[in-house]
Amino acid sequence: MNTIIKLRKEEDTIDLAKKLAPSLRCGDVIALFGELGVGKTFFTKHLCKFLEVTENVSSPSYVLMNEYSGKFPIFHFDFFRLDSKDELMELGLYDIFDKGITIIEWPEIAENLLPEKTIRIEFSFDDSYRKVRIVKV
Ligand SMILES: Nc1ncnc2c1ncn2[C@@H]1O[C@H](COP(=O)(O)OP(=O)(O)OP(=O)(O)O)[C@@H](O)[C@H]1O
Ligand SMILES: [Mg+2]
Repeated sequence: MNTIIKLRKEEDTIDLAKKLAPSLRCGDVIALFGELGVGKTFFTKHLCKFLEVTENVSSPSYVLMNEYSGKFPIFHFDFFRLDSKDELMELGLYDIFDKGITIIEWPEIAENLLPEKTIRIEFSFDDSYRKVRIVKV
């Protein structure tokens, strides 16, 4: 599947999260690509809400990972500030993937560690709105 959707307003992003949430299963990995401020954390907040997380979801850019409990355990990473592959390896991603749903902002540094079935969601700015490309194998 390879779909492009226009996200003209926040509600469009919320709708996308609402549609994706019921299809997610334990072990799924979601890689969120896109530049600063494009809406990766915003999307994650709503996705978590539709996965029955009641806690406040915040950006993990300083802490690297936040863990939430919802319908499944949810691991929310942001690799923007990750300096090295060594630091990445120390996280033990492989053990985490199986335990719940993993959502990764700025996933580029980890790209060759991601499972083949990773759901790739690529956000971008386009003129006056945002858009997103979703790639699922
Ligand atoms: N579809 C949309 N239309 C308009 N505004 C949006 C949309 N999606 C998100 N936003 C707004 O963009 C703001 C910034 O988004 P967010 O913090 O999620 O970006 P980010 O991609 O996580 O950035 P960073 O790379 O810094 O982590 C949000 O506060 C939200 O209000
Ligand atoms: Mg963010």
